[in-house]
Amino acid sequence: MTLIGPSLMCADMGVLRETVIELDQAGVDFFHLDVMDGTFVPNFTMGPDMMKSIKPFTNKPFDVHLMVKNPELHLDTFIDAGADMISVHAEATEHLQRTLQAIRTKGLKAGVALNPSTPIEELTYVLDIVDYITVMTVNPGFAGQKFIPLMNKKLSDLYGLLRREGYKIDIQVDGNIGYETIPGVLEHGANMLVCGTSSLFKPEMTFEEAVIKLKTFIENQKVKQFEVNFK
Ligand code: DX5
Ligand code: ZN
Repeated sequence: MTLIGPSLMCADMGVLRETVIELDQAGVDFFHLDVMDGTFVPNFTMGPDMMKSIKPFTNKPFDVHLMVKNPELHLDTFIDAGADMISVHAEATEHLQRTLQAIRTKGLKAGVALNPSTPIEELTYVLDIVDYITVMTVNPGFAGQKFIPLMNKKLSDLYGLLRREGYKIDIQVDGNIGYETIPGVLEHGANMLVCGTSSLFKPEMTFEEAVIKLKTFIENQKVKQFEVNFK
């Protein structure tokens, strides 16, 4: 099954609560909350207080993508703010294995995100404690960027690695996931789509219209997936 997760950094922050309610009712599967520290990536987005303010308005999982240095220092902050799943960048922590263990020990789904240039081999010795893997399909930090074509090869290589090693793990893609890029990422192994300005946040459509259009489009695509969706 392919999951759709709106990237809330693309929302109009002046009507964030209404946006979450509309997207929830439109049938999205999870919410993707990008957290940035201005150091690991050259941008800032939302923080824990903003997450807390919208948590009561949906039961869909909050997938918190920590694009921050030393994410292990901030886990409790985002767990208290309502995170159900936390992905950390392999490039942002000295002790990835320990950080993933900590996320799981606290009862959340643990994810690893990889920047475009980071080889999938970084994951080899943590595959046993990972619930989902985020393949960045743009350089992290900003919405509205262009998909990096070589990421389809990376997806395929990752899918092959998981298959060979005998792991069924959700593969999430984040960055310019829209109508031009969805066929390729689904064909190469992705099953969790982070949807921002390229697909869901379209001024000319309501969220209901955008979700229906996206789901219909996805249904007609060829997929190569592990049937997982958060172990
Ligand atoms: C990158 C951001 C974006 C965003 C999606 O760090 O995470 O990928 O969520 O927005 P679009 O669809 O504009 O790439
Ligand atoms: Zn993200």
